[in-house]
Parts: sequence; structure tokens; C-alpha cells
Amino acid sequence: MNKNVFRQLSYGVYVISTWDKGRATGCTANSAMQITSEPATIAVSINHDNYTNQCIQEMGKFAVSILGEHSDPGIIGTFGFQSGRDNDKFEKVEQLVKGYMPVVADACAYIVCEVIDKMETSTHTVFLGKVVDADVLKQDDAMTYAYYHNVVKGKSPKNAPTYIAEDAVLAEDATDSEKSGKRYVCSVCGYVYEGDTPFEELPEDYACPVCRQPKSAFKEK
Ligand SMILES: Cc1cc2nc3c(=O)[nH]c(=O)nc-3n(C[C@H](O)[C@H](O)[C@H](O)COP(=O)(O)O)c2cc1C
Repeated sequence: MNKNVFRQLSYGVYVISTWDKGRATGCTANSAMQITSEPATIAVSINHDNYTNQCIQEMGKFAVSILGEHSDPGIIGTFGFQSGRDNDKFEKVEQLVKGYMPVVADACAYIVCEVIDKMETSTHTVFLGKVVDADVLKQDDAMTYAYYHNVVKGKSPKNAPTYIAEDAVLAEDATDSEKSGKRYVCSVCGYVYEGDTPFEELPEDYACPVCRQPKSAFKEK
């Protein structure tokens, strides 16, 4: 089976957020889709190991912040490569409260849902939410998953339903200059630094554009 075919499915990039005993938390997700229009319902697929899963189960509500092409890509890393179990993610990312739920201020739109059903798979819970509030926050094109991979050059961690072992994907995606030149890979989010020339060193003050880790987090490959 060629798992790269799954990359042909289209998605957006979202932050799924909820309250954790009064504190806002959430995770990055690509797996959000509209299921019905009347009443409007949305489904999200959240890994059992994600702290967000436990918090949505307890709260019975979640919000979907739709990230735009001009949203800070660091939001994806903050919410997608660390856990709310031991991090206050909204301390680093500005929050708004909409429909009584926390949303990302730098998103282009939000949707607030009440959980009305759920389905357990071996690794993920699919939460079905009835939409109780939704609005546009700013004019921007919603970021697609393809844009995240091709323009932001971001990767997906193991808990994402679309995860593919990065080595296999990189091997197929790599251009000839990437294969022959030096490559620096962020050990936290997998972002690959590509200088203007194949043998360019990573600048001293470099910070990962996706997860904000410093130069020391990069490994030469
Ligand atoms: C681009 C991207 C897409 C992701 N999509 C999903 C997803 O659809 N479902 C999911 O459970 N995790 C997804 N993840 C992984 C979670 O965001 C990640 O495991 C996060 O650290 C969980 O945080 P938490 O423990 O605070 O919930 C994605 C991550 C990234 C970077």
C-alpha cells in the first residue's frame, strides 16, 4: 500500500480547543470536517493519548479555530508538538472567548460545538459536535494541509491520523539538492532547514518557524 496516497486527501489546519478545569487548552488537528448542514455538525478525530481528548470528554464542548495562511505558523507547533498536560499553550498564543469557549485570536474563523456523539477507533475518538456558534475573525485564506506541508514545510507527529513515517516521505519528496547537500532537521517538529545553497550552515540565532525551537534543537542529517 502506498500511504503517500493519503496525502491526496484535502484538509485544513485547525486548533481544537476546550477548557481544562477553567484553563484553556487544545491541540493542532487536520481532521475536522462538516458532517451535516441542518443542524450543522462537525466531526474531529482526536488521539486517545492527546490531553485534549480527555478534556473534551470532560467538558462536552470543543472549539475549532481555523488557521489562515497568514496565521503565525508557530501556533501549529505550540499546539501540535507539545502536550497541554505539562504546558500552558494559551500562555504563548493570544486567546479569545467565543460562545463561552477559548479560541485562537490569530485564526481566520472559529466554530464552537457541543459534543452530541462520539465513536471510538483503536487510536482516536471521533467527536461529533453540534455547532452552537461560528464566525469569521479576519479575512484570510484558510490554510490547507497541503500549504502547511508545501509552503510552511511542516511535518505531522505520530498522533495525527495522517502521520506517515517521515523518513519514507522525505525520501520520496527530497529534491536532488536536498539529497546531496547538508540538511538540518528540527528534532521537535521535523521541520527541515533548507538554506539558499546546499551546504549553508544554520544561522546562530535561528529559531524553527513551526515550533520556535532554537538552533540547538536541529540535528544535521
Ligand atoms: C499539522 C498537524 C496535524 C495534526 N492533526 C491531528 C489530528 O487530526 N488529530 C490528533 O489527534 N492529533 C493531531 N495532531 C497531533 C496533536 O496536535 C499533538 O499530538 C499534540 O501535541 C497533542 O496535544 P495535547 O496532548 O495537549 O492534546 C496534529 C499535529 C500537527 C502538527
